[in-house]
Amino acid sequence: MKKIEIKTAITVFDSLDELLKENKSLMNEAVKARQNAYAPYSKFSVGAALLLENGTVVIGNNQENAAYPSGMCAERVAIWNASSQYPNKKVIKLAISASSSSHIVKEPVAPCGACRQTLSEYEMKQKESIEVFFMGEEGKVIKTASVLDLLPIAFDKSFL
Ligand code: THU
Repeated sequence: MKKIEIKTAITVFDSLDELLKENKSLMNEAVKARQNAYAPYSKFSVGAALLLENGTVVIGNNQENAAYPSGMCAERVAIWNASSQYPNKKVIKLAISASSSSHIVKEPVAPCGACRQTLSEYEMKQKESIEVFFMGEEGKVIKTASVLDLLPIAFDKSFL
């Protein structure tokens, strides 16, 4: 028997203003995308913006449904949008922003488990890390150097 410790690393920025210009503008795209979320049930709006290697920004936002499980998260809408429009273009970065109409979201909102799994598929496919930035509506921004930093011991095609 042996015990293995797995470490991960995050960078915490005090505010959006601490980000490099390119990252700040990607986050601003996520904020814009968030404003078009369709979230009448949870009132929780999420926007995601991906920067591709060709400089294109692809966005997504959460799309809810009266049959709740039929809705979809912003991150998966964005990555599937990117993969369907630009199947061979690498994704360099992802920015995520969330807000609620019932309270101010002050803490960074991390992608859910299903989105981490989905994003990891594309990160492994392209064999290059995707930087992930996430925040609420205001306040801190968290950055990870890759999706796998958010998903240690991931399931992947090697198990199939
Ligand atoms: N949501 C996202 O869009 N991304 C996440 O990573 C977590 C949750 C959405 C799904 C649902 O529309 C709302 O937030 C509340 O869960």
